[in-house]
Amino acid sequence: MKAPRVWLAPLRGVTLAPFRKRLFASYGGVSAAVAPFVPLGTGTSKIPRRAFADVLEDAGSGLVVPQVIGRDPAALREAAAVLRDAGFSHLNLNCGCPWKFVARKGRGSGLLEDRDALARMLEAGCEAMPGGFSVKVRLGYRDAAALPSLVPLLNGFPLERVFVHPRTGVQMYGGRADEDAFARVFPLFAAPVVYNGDVFSPEDAVRVASRFPGLDGIMAGRGLCARPDLAERIAAAFGETPSPAPPPGAAARGARERAAAFASALEEDYARVLFGPAPLLGRLKELWGYLHASFETGDDGLRRIQRSRTPDELRAAVAALRA
Ligand SMILES: Cc1cc2nc3c(=O)[nH]c(=O)nc-3n(C[C@H](O)[C@H](O)[C@H](O)COP(=O)(O)O)c2cc1C
Repeated sequence: MKAPRVWLAPLRGVTLAPFRKRLFASYGGVSAAVAPFVPLGTGTSKIPRRAFADVLEDAGSGLVVPQVIGRDPAALREAAAVLRDAGFSHLNLNCGCPWKFVARKGRGSGLLEDRDALARMLEAGCEAMPGGFSVKVRLGYRDAAALPSLVPLLNGFPLERVFVHPRTGVQMYGGRADEDAFARVFPLFAAPVVYNGDVFSPEDAVRVASRFPGLDGIMAGRGLCARPDLAERIAAAFGETPSPAPPPGAAARGARERAAAFASALEEDYARVLFGPAPLLGRLKELWGYLHASFETGDDGLRRIQRSRTPDELRAAVAALRA
């Protein structure tokens, strides 16, 4: 069996441009990323190019797919035009965000409860980003039967691919991703399907890829943020060398050493683009909330990081983690 293509999932506040850049530079095996969502607005006010500041540098790289969230087809066309002008040929629509205040407005996973609004968005997206429009979906907002019943609608549009996270919106991130529900819906799709949810180890990837031959790939979010070498280890579990390859010399260094170097470089990047200690502290706490797992020191180390009141305190907590 061939190793699946691995995508980095969007995590708002974490997988931003500096993170993606460092991940691609420091590790192998991740072939592309979907960027965290940009809200569309209503279409009455034009979406400015700067709304996409996080992805603009990636235009033309083929590595990063911008994502938007919303329910206004005119705003979606507008955003697609801005992104096409910036050099992008791919766009993803978020139909999975579980947050109540988003879903209740019929956005994110809420869009899965409104067939007509979803149809209008699919039509607008496929027309405005021909050949490069994809969607990221959950099973539904409240009802896990929503997605299977929407597949005929989705199949009526030339979607580039569908990313499926088999949980409902109300489940948030609780319990386990429902691989049995995925098994029921996966064969129904006309478009290529990427599996997303709870891939934290190479064993998870092997299990999913073996159970679902024909998958277009696997998308990992929290797993890759916790252990950025996950995609390399997934390739190894399939007896392959990672593609893209890790940087030269990576194989000779331990996972902890590499994670520490990755985090230090990323901190420097963040310090350059964020203003003041408070935003830097916030961003680093988000990062370490996942990355601490690479150091296997349990919850004490994480608690100390989370209690830090300044970047210096956080650095000391991180140093203790690495000791
Ligand atoms: C903090 C956080 C932020 C997220 N932000 C986004 C987002 O901007 N767009 C999106 O489609 N999904 C977002 N997600 C969902 C993830 O992309 C992914 O679907 C989910 O975490 C399940 O995959 P995983 O188990 O590999 O992490 C977010 C998840 C978390 C935990």
